[in-house]
Amino acid sequence: MIGKLNHVAIVVPDLTAATALYRDTLGAAVSQPVDLPPHGVTVVFVELPNTKIELLHPFGESSPIAGFLQKNPSGGIHHICYEVDDILAARDRLKAQGARVLGDGEPKIGAHDKPVLFLHPKDFCGTLVELEQA
Ligand code: CO
Repeated sequence: MIGKLNHVAIVVPDLTAATALYRDTLGAAVSQPVDLPPHGVTVVFVELPNTKIELLHPFGESSPIAGFLQKNPSGGIHHICYEVDDILAARDRLKAQGARVLGDGEPKIGAHDKPVLFLHPKDFCGTLVELEQA
């Protein structure tokens, strides 16, 4: 059911330093920072040949990643995103198998203007999983 790895999201305490690390030390192509107020994050997109890394930093007062950064002050992998062809079919299949969908279970428009859902990390090997309809 899941397709390509769309991205790995890493929360970072210092977006400028993290961008420099990926650009200068690792030699990757990186974007300018993009503020996404509805999502409470500022993102730098790291383009790799086969996928993307998203460097996330809290934006605004009530960022959903503020707590993560408090618990992980030096940052860490926040979630991985897999592509699916049909997000409602994917959700229904997962729920039928007992997996927990976060929130109200309805897809939201994600950072790439495509429908996304998040799955409970306790049901997926301790990893927060995002599904995006590609
Ligand atoms: Co994501």
